[in-house]
Amino acid sequence: MNRLTEFMLPPAKSTTAGEVDALFHFINVTSIILLAGITFTIIYFAWKYRRRSEDDVTPVITHNSKLEITWSVIPLILVMIVFGWGLSGYMNLTTAPDDAYEVRVVAKSWLWEFHYQNGHVSVNELHVPVDRPVKLVMSSDDVIHSFFVPDYRIKRDVLPNRYTSVWFEAIETGESIIHCTEYCGRAHSDMNATVFVHTQEDFETWLESADAIDEDMPPAERGEALVTRSGCMACHSTDGSRMVGPTFQGLWMAERTMEDGEVVTADENYIRESILEPNARINEGYDPVMPSYQGTLSDRQIDDIIEYIKTLD
Ligand code: CUA
Repeated sequence: MNRLTEFMLPPAKSTTAGEVDALFHFINVTSIILLAGITFTIIYFAWKYRRRSEDDVTPVITHNSKLEITWSVIPLILVMIVFGWGLSGYMNLTTAPDDAYEVRVVAKSWLWEFHYQNGHVSVNELHVPVDRPVKLVMSSDDVIHSFFVPDYRIKRDVLPNRYTSVWFEAIETGESIIHCTEYCGRAHSDMNATVFVHTQEDFETWLESADAIDEDMPPAERGEALVTRSGCMACHSTDGSRMVGPTFQGLWMAERTMEDGEVVTADENYIRESILEPNARINEGYDPVMPSYQGTLSDRQIDDIIEYIKTLD
């Protein structure tokens, strides 16, 4: 079974992955056996009952109760096994253990925000402790997204105006990838994030130090790290190429024409407004699709990002 998992599936890194994989293999193996059996029987019967001479006449058979009951009851049993097994797995994934560590997940087009119990927010990085259940309470700020961690075998839709939740317990430290698995617009395929699984001790250290500003780093370098960490690169380039949003290259102090014909100079106030209220002014030829970073980035962090943009000429 382990060999089969290794061959067909990503590594199983959560406590519930084993049950999901077992059901997957059961459905798969049953289907293969039935496919082979039915295919073989069809070919064999086609040959056995072939027309041998001109006066071969097919006998009239109205029905065969024994046969019909058999081919109804066997699939019914198989389907009920899959249903019961699937239902128990579904209930298990829906009901988080009471001692679970809770993280709020906010999906926006096109990034993932994680809000921790101490008020810290991380973008596109979910940090969790190992060997401890983690409950995710999720919602979307815009359209339907879906939270999927292949290594944990968990997937749940993330909806606007409603909370959904899912939980997992990571069984080893390391990293796993998170995908958005509901088509949500142009940068859907870039809407990925990473789970970082730490020891309990490292997790606490990370939580405490996550908000601390690295004073030794020049502001522009901090800004560069922030831009990468905050999901900006899904829609903005730094080399002049056009993506979903305008490029950062040459943005500083450039004159930009807005949708309503207004010409704006890209100074500190314009950049700040674009981060906090992105839809207040829209560049001509672009769509109003950027999510607000209000509550995600602090004033100090916005300062750092402005310093970084200044360096991109
Ligand atoms: Cu979010 Cu696809």
